[in-house]
Amino acid sequence: MASGDPDHEGFVLWTRLAPEPLAEDGLGGMPSRSVPVQWELAADENFRHVVRRGVEPARPESAHSVHVELDGLLPGREYFYRFRAEGWISPVGRTRTAPAPWHLPAALAMGFVSCSQYEHGYFTAYRRLAETEPELILHLGDYQYEYAPDTYTVPGGNPRDHEGPETRTLANYRQRHAQYKTDTDLQAAHAVAPWVVVFDDHEVENNWADEVPEAPDPDFLARRAAAFQAYYENMPLRRTSIPRGIDMQLYRRVRWGRLATFHMLDTRQYRDDQGCGDGYKDCPAAYDPARSITGAEQEAWLLDGFRRSEARWDILGQQVFFAQRDNNSGPLTVTGMDAWDGYAASRDRITRGWVAAGVRNPVVLTGDVHAHWASDLKLDYADPTSRTVGSELVCSSITSGGDGADSATGSHPWLRFNPHLRFQNNLRGYVRTTITPAQLAANFDVLPYVSRPDAPAHTRATFVIEDRVPGLNLTYDAPPAAARGLAPERADLGRQTVESETVRP
Ligand SMILES: [Fe+2]
Repeated sequence: MASGDPDHEGFVLWTRLAPEPLAEDGLGGMPSRSVPVQWELAADENFRHVVRRGVEPARPESAHSVHVELDGLLPGREYFYRFRAEGWISPVGRTRTAPAPWHLPAALAMGFVSCSQYEHGYFTAYRRLAETEPELILHLGDYQYEYAPDTYTVPGGNPRDHEGPETRTLANYRQRHAQYKTDTDLQAAHAVAPWVVVFDDHEVENNWADEVPEAPDPDFLARRAAAFQAYYENMPLRRTSIPRGIDMQLYRRVRWGRLATFHMLDTRQYRDDQGCGDGYKDCPAAYDPARSITGAEQEAWLLDGFRRSEARWDILGQQVFFAQRDNNSGPLTVTGMDAWDGYAASRDRITRGWVAAGVRNPVVLTGDVHAHWASDLKLDYADPTSRTVGSELVCSSITSGGDGADSATGSHPWLRFNPHLRFQNNLRGYVRTTITPAQLAANFDVLPYVSRPDAPAHTRATFVIEDRVPGLNLTYDAPPAAARGLAPERADLGRQTVESETVRP
């Protein structure tokens, strides 16, 4: 049960019938016929004021998933929904419409997340985010992972196991999605607010790039089509995202009145293959203006969106690290070929595009690297005097990488030779942003562990961006967890961090 893709008059309500979610055939124990699903939408959580109801068939060809796309509702309102089928009734979910297009709301409290590897730990971070009652949640990719049980492990061993083999077929991907959706912490996060989701690589396969798999595979296009089909079936996406063969329309805009426009990107489906064989490289191809991470069409769509924007905050919701992140302390610039660093000319066109369009407050939101990061964005990362033209906020993983460890703010070695990088923390967690007309405040929340359930969460650091003043201001810096008796520091933190990010983020 979930909701998503809100606009000012509606959203998508989602459910899937699967009485045996772990069934190997991916069909969730359902018969090969359509089953009617009743849905109700109410203005109150007790359903005294039902505003809409209907019946939607759950069809076997969609693995008995249901997408109800609503319009004509009131802007800026909270709604409650539930489903009934074959004598079962679902829990109640809460969702909301976006504010009216002309309205400038006083605030939006939202959270963003990424990288939820079921095997690597408990999804407590999802529950802790849900407890803060955000109005909107963005998932920036790696919602699920393709691996067979125990082939991608964390130090100390994986506390949980995937069901089924490495996902290659539609049945595999459906079974994997169903397993993830059995997690009650994930369920709580879906039930609290509408989600806006984009996939990264692991919803299909590690580091895929358009039609190119990580390792040669003659069946990759069929695999990609199966992964897209299962992703659509299991996410609260609009009809416009129904896959057609190997293609799926994922990039789109979500507007929150005049306060914020979210430009949700797809940096996988149209990208050129990673340069120099992927990995961390000093790679000339990374600077080739003919190469792109977005594809020409999406780039034109985004630049056009910058020019037309009337939003106070223009927010890019996307997958991989945007700022330059050099991991070499010497004269070489060694950067990740899977991130925007591997497509530096592409990044320059986007950055210059928002500057040329006079975008008032550009902010890039990112996942992928399994650690919290915050960065000032520059027109030229090679020039230390280059002015700051935006900010990037990167959320840590929900679980990927395992427990991780805390460290003193500013102690990560890469911050020394990447002065625009302002913050890194290698605990698991999520970022909560409160966006107002005057400022955007980002709370980097962390959990001391995910190898056991029920960890508490606390805010590790807060950065504020002021309206019309690009750049990050550190306004809160919690003492390291060790100082508060929550988790041991690890002496080898720097090395561990580098490794955890280069191996299959
Ligand atoms: Fe990841």
